[in-house]
Parts: sequence; C-alpha cells; structure tokens
Amino acid sequence: MLRTHTCGELRPDAVGQQVTLCGWVDTTRDHGGAVFVDLRDRYGKTQVVAAPESGSAIVEAFKKLRSEDVIQVRGTVAHRPQGTVNPRLATGEIELRVAELNVLNQCPPPPFTPSQIDLPGEDLRLKYRYLDLRRPAMQQTMVLRSRILKTMRDYFAELDFIDIETPILGRSTPEGARDYLVPSRIHHGKFYALPQSPQLYKQILMVAGYDRYVQVARCFRDEDLRADRQPEFTQLDMEMSFVEADDVLETIDGLVVRLARDILGIEVATPLPRMTYDEAMRRFGHDAPDLRFGMEIVDCTDLAEKAEFRVFRSVAEGGGFVRGIRAPQAAAKYSRKKIDELTEYVRQDFGAKGLAWFRVEPDGTLWSPIAKNFQAELLQEIATRMEAQPGDLLLFIADSWDVSCKALYGLRRRLGAELELYDPKTMHFSWVVEFPMFDFDEQERRWVAMHHPFTAPRPQDIELLSSDPGACRAQAYDLVINGSEAGGGTIRIHDPRLQRQVFDLLGIDETSARDRFGFLLDALKYGAPPHGGIALGIDRFVMLFGGLDNIRDCIAFPKTQRATDLMTGAPGLVDPKQLEELAIEVTDFEEEEEDEETGDAGNA
Ligand code: AMO
Ligand code: AMP
Repeated sequence: MLRTHTCGELRPDAVGQQVTLCGWVDTTRDHGGAVFVDLRDRYGKTQVVAAPESGSAIVEAFKKLRSEDVIQVRGTVAHRPQGTVNPRLATGEIELRVAELNVLNQCPPPPFTPSQIDLPGEDLRLKYRYLDLRRPAMQQTMVLRSRILKTMRDYFAELDFIDIETPILGRSTPEGARDYLVPSRIHHGKFYALPQSPQLYKQILMVAGYDRYVQVARCFRDEDLRADRQPEFTQLDMEMSFVEADDVLETIDGLVVRLARDILGIEVATPLPRMTYDEAMRRFGHDAPDLRFGMEIVDCTDLAEKAEFRVFRSVAEGGGFVRGIRAPQAAAKYSRKKIDELTEYVRQDFGAKGLAWFRVEPDGTLWSPIAKNFQAELLQEIATRMEAQPGDLLLFIADSWDVSCKALYGLRRRLGAELELYDPKTMHFSWVVEFPMFDFDEQERRWVAMHHPFTAPRPQDIELLSSDPGACRAQAYDLVINGSEAGGGTIRIHDPRLQRQVFDLLGIDETSARDRFGFLLDALKYGAPPHGGIALGIDRFVMLFGGLDNIRDCIAFPKTQRATDLMTGAPGLVDPKQLEELAIEVTDFEEEEEDEETGDAGNA
C-alpha cells in the first residue's frame, strides 16, 4: 500500500505516529513560512502542514502544489495548536507535519474543483464526470447506493432467494415503452431488444421451479426522460411462486423495515399502510399519493348542483366533479397575484378551465370575488364540508374526473411544499393496491394493460373481463415513498387460457401472440405454478433515501435528458464497415449539436 491511513481516519489517539497519506490536493494556504494543504480522498480531509521543520525544499515544493494534484505525504501526526481546531472536520483536531512529499501526478487547472462552493452547470459536471464524482456529496451518494444494494441483497439471500442473471440481448415484446434495438450481424434484418425488465424471464424461472428469484437488473426503455426517469436504470427484481399478493407485500415490508433501520436509522411500523387505487384517486387525485401531509381532496359535487354559480352547477349536472382542497392558514400567504399564478398553473399544466377560490374570514364566512354567485346558506354548507377554519384558503376545480384529479394533485403537491406542511426529512412508505387491469387508450380506441399484459385480475373480477373490462381490478401493487412510485408488481396469470383472454382484450391476436411470446404461452402450459413478484427502482430508492431531487445524481454515469452521455459522447457514429456488416443503411443523420440540455424544466 502506498498509504498507511485514509484522509478521514486520523484522530488525536494517533498523535506522535508516523503515517503516510495519499490523496488529492483540495486547497492550499500559503502562510509564507508554512504551507497548509487540505488533502482529500473519499473518506475525508486531513490538514497537512509543511513548516520550517519540514525543511525548505519541502516547503518550496508545497508552494508549487495545485488543486487536484495527487500526492503522497509522510510525516508525524500532531495536535493542532490551540484555537486552530476545526470542529466541522472529523480529523479537525489533528494535522500531519510533513517530512516527505511525493507528487504522484500533477493536474492542470481543472474546469471546476470538487470543493468549489457553487456547483458548475450540469453539462460541465457530466462531461468531466470524474471530477464531479470526486465531490464529497457525490461520493456519499455512491456509498449510499452501494449500501442500499448490499442491504437488499443480504435480505433476499437470507430469505433463500437465488440470484439469477437473465439475458440483455433478448427479443422485443409489445406493450411497454419503446425498445432499444441491437441489430444482428449474423441474421441480417433481425434485431435483439434490450430488456425493459426481466419480466418474462423471471416468470419462466418460476415455471422452471426456481421459486424465489432475485436480481439487480439493468433495464432499458427508450421513453421521454424526466427528473425521475433514465433510459437505462436499475431494478431490484424479484419473483416468488406459490404466493398471493399479501406474501409479496409482506416480504417487501420486511425489506423496508430493514432498509429504514440500517440506512436511515429509523423504525418503520408494519404492515405498511395500504390504500386501494380508487381511494388514492378519490382522496389524493393520484396513484402515488404523498402521505406526509393531509390536505385531502373533498368532493362537493352534490353541493355544487344546487349552486347559482353557473360554472359549478353546469359541471355537476353534466356528470363532472366539483372537488376542492383546504390549504390551512394560507389566505394571508396567497395574494391575488399568487392565486392568479395557481390558476395559470392548473390551466397550463393540467388543462383545467379555471380555479375557484374562497378565503375563510375571521367569522368563518367565505369570501371570494365569485361568492356573490352563491346562496349564503350554500356557502355555509361548503365551509362545513371543507372543515374550513378562519385564515384557510379553499380551492376548487370543476371539471371531468381526470382533470380534477390531475389539477388537485398538482395543487396539493405544490401547496404542501410551499406551505411547508411536512418535514422534508420524513420518510413515508405505503402501498397502493388493486389497480385497474386496463386503461382505455382514447387515441387508439382500445384497451391497454395498466401494468403489463401478464397481470392477473382479482379472482372475483374475472367475469368482468368479458362484461366490463374497465371495472376489472388487478392483483397489482405499487410501493410509494413520499409521493413517488418506488416499485411495482403483480400476481401473474399462470393459466394459459386466462392469458389468451387478456391478450384478446388487448387486441393481441393468436398469431401475433404466438409470434411474440409463444414461448411464454408454451411455458405456462407446461406446469406453471401460481406466482407473482415486484421490481423496485433502485435509482429512485437512492434518490428518496438520499433526499435528492434528480435521478442523475444517483447514477455514476447517467444520460442527459436527451439520452446522451456527455463524457463518452454516446451515442456516436460508427465505422461504415460496421454498418455494412450489419446490412444497415443510414438514411438520415442528426445535425451536430453544440449545446446539451439537461434541465428538467416543466416536466418534473
Ligand atoms: P415497472 O415498469 O413498474 O415494473 O418498474 C418497476 C420500478 O422501476 C422504476 N422505474 C424507473 N426508474 C428509473 N427510470 C425509469 N425509466 C424507470 N421506469 C421504471 C420505478 C418502478 O416502480 N416487470 C415489472 C415489475 C413486476 O411486475 O414485477 C416492471 O418493470 O421505481
Ligand atoms: P368565469 O365564469 O370563466 O369568468 O370564471 C369565474 C371564476 O370561476 C374564475 O375565478 C375562474 O377561474 C373560475 N372557474 C372557471 N371555470 C372553473 C372550473 N371549471 N373550475 C373551477 N373554477 C372555475
């Protein structure tokens, strides 16, 4: 070893010892006779001093050190002089008095330094990712990620799960996001697809008798990226045989307890709260509600029917919904101008037609520019229904179910943060269960699977498959952390006839089903056990456990919003010979771009 200790290790009990440290020059302070260097590695920083006792050659050499030079220093650990102890540094009570310096590598002036206070732009950070990854905050996140993965792997290993790898070169399966394709050199015109998840392989492993499977699996989806989405991301993927939904949930409950304890040092009570999809939409307008605070949606459609206010009455009578939220003690904080901003927000982002609002006056009555359009006694009923308190602000959306869910979800999230209704450090884990089996795609005029086409309906809903598919509920569950979908899974169909029926509903005919996943239908025929599982989004776990708001900060080498890698330049052009071998002709080239966009504006 070139070093005896790390830069985060030395404490006063080492005073007097001869040690050797290696690391990067974080900062240098030249005090004339003495030069101070903060030496950094991923464990911390140690103050290193070249003083007259070190000899003038060393002092002179220290004066020439630059940011990010890599050095090795040997010397004696000493107490820092009185008054120079740094309580913010773990090694702040000691310093190293240098006797020997060895410059291992010099660094030209870097585009940014890991310890500079202002973060450089993200494009620069991604281009020089090695410098960015040197930043203590990034290093902490990488360590956090590694610890989360280790805890997960240990937990499943203790429960007798076996880790099995599944192929990266697979075949394209329908219904999911867009695939990343890999052309075949040996079979011209044919393509592999990178897996969007190991879904079919893990089901086949169940048929093969590996009743507890787990894998840290890389998944690839060519979809529009957002602050919490990457084209290539990691799942903790698992599957179990001879289980019901409850068994999968309990297994993950146990994992959450373990992660919370080991990683966050907090105790989480189980079973984690569960809420049906319908209830989540009714109370929070979303299938991944943030349960760190209240401010639930309240339905006033029946009251709106009686209103003289035309907007409310016509929406309520036309089959729409009039629902609202009560922002506690928000009246004084939201001026007319700020309310106008909220109105613009729900219009622009969710297509709402407007936002009706009331201030709760000190005497409990409701005031609003539209209040005159309401009968006084009706306003009283609305106030009672909303449990209005003086100083509150009531906000209402009159619209279709869909728009009212989206707009009120957005308002609740925004106001919850702005009014600081929760401590951002709290962690809340819960389940949303019993998702619908299908969504109706209005554009394509057909049913699509809400999770994936292998999801089993609830046994009591099987009949609805033929009579009322929209009402059919699935044995599906999502793990929600602080209002983010952190994992999702289902009990699968293990009966080939039921699978056929679901494919029929999804408009996947016999021929194309055989063609695309005949292998799955065959496997289901050859003795498939009842089975189900879940996949947890590792990158999102790291984001949530680390209190970060950008998924790129959780991945060592992420892609930009436009799916590029600014460090390596991927995707890149290839040699024409490679294309020839693949029998591929490129008909359109992208123009070279100067600037990369990494921002998440408008679509968090
Ligand atoms: P699903 O598609 O819900 O389920 O994915 C599971 C979890 O993976 C995370 N995730 C993502 N994270 C980052 N970037 C993305 N683009 C991205 N997409 C998904 C989310 C999500 O909850 N095979 C099924 C699981 C199963 O049924 O067992 C599946 O992949 O946290
Ligand atoms: P208008 O009748 O369009 O002038 O709207 C009067 C008030 O009602 C304005 O404050 C609008 O923002 C609000 N409003 C209009 N349409 C809706 C709606 N669909 N839901 C809630 N408020 C609305």
